[in-house]
Amino acid sequence: MQDSLIIKPPKKSPVLLRMAVLMFATVCSVYICSVCLKQISTQARSLFQNMQGIESPIPNKFIMLEEIPHLHYPKPTTFSRAECAHNPVQFFAVLSIQRSGSGWFETLLNSHNNVSSNGEIFSMKDRRKNISTIVQTLDKVYNLDWLSSASKNQCTAAVGFKWMLNQGLMEHHKEIVEYFKHKGVSAIFLFRRNLLRRMVSMLANSYDRNAKLLNGTHKSHVHTPEEADTLSKYKPSINSTLLISDLKQMEVIAAKALNYFNSTRNMILYYEDLVGNRTKLNDVQEFLGLPVMRLTSRQVKIHRGGLSDHVKNWDDVNKTLTGTVYESFLHADYQS
Ligand SMILES: *[C@@H]1O[C@H](CO)[C@@H](O)[C@H](O)[C@H]1NC(C)=O
Ligand SMILES: *[C@@H]1O[C@H](CO)[C@@H](O)[C@H](O)[C@H]1NC(C)=O
Ligand SMILES: *[C@@H]1O[C@H](CO)[C@@H](O)[C@H](O)[C@H]1NC(C)=O
Ligand SMILES: *[C@@H]1O[C@H](CO)[C@@H](O)[C@H](O)[C@H]1NC(C)=O
Ligand SMILES: *[C@@H]1O[C@H](CO)[C@@H](O)[C@H](O)[C@H]1NC(C)=O
Ligand SMILES: *[C@@H]1O[C@H](CO)[C@@H](O)[C@H](O)[C@H]1NC(C)=O
Ligand SMILES: *[C@@H]1O[C@H](CO)[C@@H](O)[C@H](O)[C@H]1NC(C)=O
Repeated sequence: MQDSLIIKPPKKSPVLLRMAVLMFATVCSVYICSVCLKQISTQARSLFQNMQGIESPIPNKFIMLEEIPHLHYPKPTTFSRAECAHNPVQFFAVLSIQRSGSGWFETLLNSHNNVSSNGEIFSMKDRRKNISTIVQTLDKVYNLDWLSSASKNQCTAAVGFKWMLNQGLMEHHKEIVEYFKHKGVSAIFLFRRNLLRRMVSMLANSYDRNAKLLNGTHKSHVHTPEEADTLSKYKPSINSTLLISDLKQMEVIAAKALNYFNSTRNMILYYEDLVGNRTKLNDVQEFLGLPVMRLTSRQVKIHRGGLSDHVKNWDDVNKTLTGTVYESFLHADYQS
């Protein structure tokens, strides 16, 4: 297409020529747009099918671009890397959606001696106000100057944080992808296959923000079965009118994110797979170039057992999803 754009400008009719070029450009951009849209929807569909396959053993999507990751030797301004100054550091970001297990995943990562995953740093609005504040924040994190309770300081071998898709990531995706590629940041996507479970978790967590069921404090993550039982006593009801379109919308957002970031070095994880198979955590450590260790978390799942026990208007939800592509969400549970 680019070749055909090189046209010798004839002197005779510049207006006609300009019109022709304008027409050509318009046709081209419409074509490009339609191709892009088609690709996005194809991807959305394939992710969609991917997420359906909860009960059948589907291959795990695991993309690793073959290029050698950049080796980084940051020189933090806040401390000296001392004896670890010669150990390279990998940069990563966990890209996820609220209530998809990313809090749990992050505690697992941080149980590694050499990982600093600094939490949901873009939950603060002023850090994601515009691309400059985003880049400033990223620079600080990847220079090891972001000090949080998770920082391992001098002997960090992988540094990152978790970033929810609705925290500026989608709006500024172009610049962020450029940053990731330029700086050599690896993306770890973490999604949940069963979006109905995610929705229940979302509604319950949102309810507890006001209800504060645990002795007057709101907790998004818990560490004892008793706390889990207290929180799961609340049964949200789900608006079945909007259910299908809400589920679809979540899938589209995830597919869009995968599409935006597909040129970065990345891997895709599903929460259910991690719960069912802890060996998956070795893949993550290898992806980050870390010495492989057994990772642990003290967090306890809040909504255990069948989903029918956790939804107030279950019959309604059951009726709405039975016979749709989402029917498997009603039954699926993970072993553990
Ligand atoms: C981004 O926001 C910061 C803080 O409000 C402001 O100082 C800066 O001028 C903004 N930059 C751009 C490019 O808008
Ligand atoms: C991991 O951290 C330990 C100290 O906790 C350090 O001795 C070791 O060199 C680090 N490993 C890497 C790969 O940075
Ligand atoms: C609430 O506080 C009481 C007294 O401190 C304690 O015994 C109980 O376990 C707490 N309950 C929860 C759900 O944390
Ligand atoms: C469900 O959502 C629709 C559309 O927003 C609304 O009209 C309806 O009242 C809601 N139903 C319930 C039970 O809240
Ligand atoms: C990324 O997505 C675009 C558009 O869907 C596609 O053309 C391209 O091949 C993908 N790149 C990779 C590395 O998968
Ligand atoms: C568990 O995960 C590992 C690493 O991805 C994989 O090789 C293995 O086949 C998985 N095991 C099962 C039972 O799925
Ligand atoms: C959904 O409803 C049907 C018909 O009432 C029932 O047979 C089935 O067990 C229900 N499924 C679940 C998962 O509750």
